[in-house]
Amino acid sequence: MSKPSSSLVHLSILIVTLFVAEIHGSKQIKALNKLQKSKYSTNSQIDTSHFKIHENIALDPMVHSQDGMKEKDKIEKLPGQPNVKFSQYGGYVTIDKIAGSAFYYYFVEAHHSKETLPLLLWLNGGPGCSSLAYGAMQEVGPFRVNSDGKTLYKNNYSWNYAANVLFLESPAGVGFSYSNKSSDYDTSGDRRTAADNYIFLMNWLERFPEYKNRDFYIAGESYAGHYVPQLAHNILHHNKKANRTIINLKGIMIGNAVINDDTDEQGMYDFLATHAIISDQTAYNIKKFCNFSSTSNQTTECSDAASEVDKNTLFLDIYNIYAPVCTNHSLTNRPKKVSDVLDPCSDDYIQAYFNRGDVQEALHANVTKLEHDWEACSTIISNWGDSPTTIIPLLHELLNNGLRVWIFSGDIDGRVPVTGTKYSLKKMKLPIETTWYPWFIKGEIGGYAEVYKGGLTFATVREAGHQVPSYQPARALSLIMHFLNGTPLPITQRLYN
Ligand SMILES: *[C@@H]1O[C@H](CO)[C@@H](O)[C@H](O)[C@H]1NC(C)=O
Ligand SMILES: *[C@@H]1O[C@H](CO)[C@@H](O)[C@H](O)[C@H]1NC(C)=O
Ligand SMILES: *[C@@H]1O[C@H](CO)[C@@H](O)[C@H](O)[C@H]1NC(C)=O
Ligand SMILES: *[C@@H]1O[C@H](CO)[C@@H](O)[C@H](O)[C@H]1NC(C)=O
Ligand SMILES: *[C@@H]1O[C@H](CO)[C@@H](O)[C@H](O)[C@H]1NC(C)=O
Ligand SMILES: *[C@@H]1O[C@H](CO)[C@@H](O)[C@H](O)[C@H]1NC(C)=O
Ligand SMILES: *[C@@H]1O[C@H](CO)[C@@H](O)[C@H](O)[C@H]1NC(C)=O
Repeated sequence: MSKPSSSLVHLSILIVTLFVAEIHGSKQIKALNKLQKSKYSTNSQIDTSHFKIHENIALDPMVHSQDGMKEKDKIEKLPGQPNVKFSQYGGYVTIDKIAGSAFYYYFVEAHHSKETLPLLLWLNGGPGCSSLAYGAMQEVGPFRVNSDGKTLYKNNYSWNYAANVLFLESPAGVGFSYSNKSSDYDTSGDRRTAADNYIFLMNWLERFPEYKNRDFYIAGESYAGHYVPQLAHNILHHNKKANRTIINLKGIMIGNAVINDDTDEQGMYDFLATHAIISDQTAYNIKKFCNFSSTSNQTTECSDAASEVDKNTLFLDIYNIYAPVCTNHSLTNRPKKVSDVLDPCSDDYIQAYFNRGDVQEALHANVTKLEHDWEACSTIISNWGDSPTTIIPLLHELLNNGLRVWIFSGDIDGRVPVTGTKYSLKKMKLPIETTWYPWFIKGEIGGYAEVYKGGLTFATVREAGHQVPSYQPARALSLIMHFLNGTPLPITQRLYN
């Protein structure tokens, strides 16, 4: 028996297990575990200082004419796709001409009112995981892949009912995004990712000029708890420097997000203890012997306790503690019957789909015939140079600049759980505007919410794992609609709100 791959893919730098259990048959996890261990190891090479913009990147030469490229990027139809009325685009945006690096994007316009609805960028985390694999095909995109690995079905709760949605594979080495200078794969990190994402956006807006002044929002989950506020910081920085609104950023939303290492870690163990996954003794030992504020010197008692946690979670899908796991990785000849809730073997279907030649051609992807396969999480990014211990200062900065900040949390994720997020919010010391209340959708509790002064909303999503829109698509669509409209989550039990 092997651990389900879906439970491995979002591993972030910090760790459950300072000393990660050996997991069979998963190359990418080995690479990521190296990063996780690094951050809490005595000889850590990772720069964990506060996020700062890459000042030495001159932007002007990075923005190029994009004439005629939008038309070339138009996707006529994806193989196996049901008919739809909205337009889709996919293609490459050059990030660095000298190195020869380019990021792949997939863009779906809104079902209706595309001229007036906002532009929303969705990012997945990892680091190293693809927004096409998760965001587009398992979470908020218009289609999901059938169990035959070659046909698609509609997601009835796609976020392009609420916005024009852009998915980006970032940094270089993720999915179809690449660099011709292979040493770029050894020099990844938060700062570089944020800088490159900004260059991507500037060029993409040049290619799609009708979106230049559109209200712009960024959303993402997991390690995108770093990417999203960092990109937002860079956007504000460049707007200020130019003394004009270059990108019309209005707000950010992050879910089950890596925010602050020590509270994230402590919150994870407390969640596992209160959900009967680890013993009280183990939880006690973790509290007593581990110091998550320290990036060095964990005691052997701490690592012993952490390996107890490993034993208890190894065969669990820690990203949704109640979800079934995938027990058969084969594709089926005919599509299995689908439901709104995600099939635990979806990773396998998506892996097959994106590695098909006809799919890559339709997407305008892999035009340079890369040597490696398309993977949901990168196997070629070999090093992560910087990752701050906290992004709380960035959240304060965004709020101080009048941006809307929503933080949501699927309440059955055991990896970046709601407990940790609550501890991180407490650390922010924001005054409360609306105290904790149940929010409703179609007469049922969708989750709980608390609103803070200054523009921050915290919302839980009931019975959702790490990938909230995969497990609670209707609740997630309601969440994004209220976020984009700037309206509070419904406090009353009225039907149809
Ligand atoms: C990378 O190299 C290939 C092959 O030489 C070339 O076709 C492609 O344009 C290069 N990519 C970039 C972004 O320059
Ligand atoms: C920035 O722009 C505003 C209005 O466009 C102008 O009043 C102000 O003087 C400018 N500030 C600087 C430092 O150029
Ligand atoms: C944890 O580590 C930090 C940073 O090294 C240190 O300041 C703090 O005193 C430690 N806490 C405990 C309880 O040892
Ligand atoms: C690490 O442990 C050594 C030996 O126990 C101790 O001297 C040192 O102060 C510790 N460093 C930190 C940062 O806690
Ligand atoms: C796995 O699924 C495939 C395709 O449906 C089927 O042919 C095969 O028998 C299954 N294997 C097991 C061990 O159930
Ligand atoms: C989506 O909605 C259509 C029309 O109501 C329905 O036929 C279909 O089964 C739904 N899809 C899923 C996955 O539930
Ligand atoms: C790109 O295409 C080549 C040649 O068809 C294939 O071997 C490789 O797996 C593909 N890589 C990606 C990332 O799609």
